[in-house]
Amino acid sequence: MTIDTETRHDADGRAVDAAAYLVAPVDERSRARLAENGLDYRVVPVAGDDYPQWLQVVARGFQDGERTDEQVASSRERSAYRRVTGVYDPAVPIAGAPVGTIASWIGQLTVPGGAALPSCAISAVTVAPTHRRRGIARAMLEGELGAAVAAGAPLAMLTVSESTLYGRYGFAPAAASASWRIETKRAAWIGPRPDGRVDFITRERLRELVAPMHERVRLRVAGEIDVPGGFWDGFAGTNPTAEKPGEKRAVQYADADGEVRGLAIYSVKENHDDFTKASVNVAYLLAETDDAYAALWRFLLELDLVAEVNAGELSVDEPLRWMIADQRAATVTLRDHQYVRILDVPTALEARRYGAPGTLALDVSDALGHAGGRFVLTVDGDGHGTVSSWDDGAAAPDGSVEVALGIEELSAAYLGGVSLATLAAAGRVRSTDASPAARVFAWHTAPRLSIWY
Ligand SMILES: CC(C)(COP(=O)(O)OP(=O)(O)OC[C@H]1O[C@@H](n2cnc3c(N)ncnc32)[C@H](O)[C@@H]1OP(=O)(O)O)[C@@H](O)C(=O)NCCC(=O)NCCS
Repeated sequence: MTIDTETRHDADGRAVDAAAYLVAPVDERSRARLAENGLDYRVVPVAGDDYPQWLQVVARGFQDGERTDEQVASSRERSAYRRVTGVYDPAVPIAGAPVGTIASWIGQLTVPGGAALPSCAISAVTVAPTHRRRGIARAMLEGELGAAVAAGAPLAMLTVSESTLYGRYGFAPAAASASWRIETKRAAWIGPRPDGRVDFITRERLRELVAPMHERVRLRVAGEIDVPGGFWDGFAGTNPTAEKPGEKRAVQYADADGEVRGLAIYSVKENHDDFTKASVNVAYLLAETDDAYAALWRFLLELDLVAEVNAGELSVDEPLRWMIADQRAATVTLRDHQYVRILDVPTALEARRYGAPGTLALDVSDALGHAGGRFVLTVDGDGHGTVSSWDDGAAAPDGSVEVALGIEELSAAYLGGVSLATLAAAGRVRSTDASPAARVFAWHTAPRLSIWY
């Protein structure tokens, strides 16, 4: 799958030109601010001479080792979909090494109801420890958000190393993830035992199947994004520079008609002290049908010589919990995962579906000035919403519920991952009546994101 040349559309069919975004100039306000401090903020072409040093600085920023020439070449080959940006201090001794890095691209974020909206995905945010806490990260984040707004992207999104970094720019945790550690001998499978079969396949075959299958299922789950191809190489170990790829085992589930409906890739860690107590790490499990989900999880939980199965980036509301006899066999750890930042309130709100009809008068504040304003969201009996403006000084429409909140809180509730009533109880949202407002924003399945980016 390539996403570099595609043109993305928002809910009204307006184009967001993902290809033009890749080479769009950096945000002028951030450029000028950094230039005042002797720093040069510029786009770094992935195909150009500056890319290898940029990549080395990202690796150092995330506490990784130096990249080999082969790894640089592989990264270059798989990164054409990225807008890569660096901040340069001309005085550093390593020629061409930036002191700040950031990458972004226009991806597609699934929202409740199955639409996908163009969303600026942000990644590779690092600042050299020699240049920390001088406002370089802030300038880059504000800069890329400015570029995303200029491109017409209604949303931005990211996954984070630390939870404390991005709220200041309006990002909020919108889809939490669950990590599971399952004691398999205690769990006891009580779920369905569907017809069909599970078979081993090569990692290369899994790599071929996984991208189109993910494309078929990603619109079913709010929070998921279109996944650039290089990520699948990472899961499958089919990247030429993958570490210990041979440890990965790939299986497919084919239904009774022989159609492949699910895939899993996992590795096994032997336990030398007790050969009956190996542990399994599930790198990725993708199911197109409920049968595939049941068959693959049952296969993993019933592996011989295995005492523990670990899996991450699962939903906070996994059906798996209801497929094992002993729910306490699973230790589940929740973590903030997919962060979302609304940049265009009407476009974002009209694209998702809602849990109940109602009229909300929303007073949204945004410290960065991108998305603040007063809006009336009217949701009909089918869960479709329309947004109109709510004039300054005008009373809220009759029968509406007033909700005053920051863009961070609106973004937190956007995918249905947290109730507006919970945010009101936490003092993060003010409302004339949070319960009906919460029912409007509710969604019947938990949002999820199955990768890091
Ligand atoms: C996180 C990182 C990018 C910050 O860069 P920086 O240039 O030092 O950040 P800035 O000076 O621009 O700080 C911007 C704001 O973030 C705050 N901040 C920066 N790092 C922070 C941290 N680790 N925890 C909490 N707040 C932090 C600053 O106090 C500042 O707040 P304010 O502008 O609201 O007053 C840098 O420390 C880094 O590279 N860390 C390692 C890699 C990493 O974790 N990257 C993030 C990946 S998601």
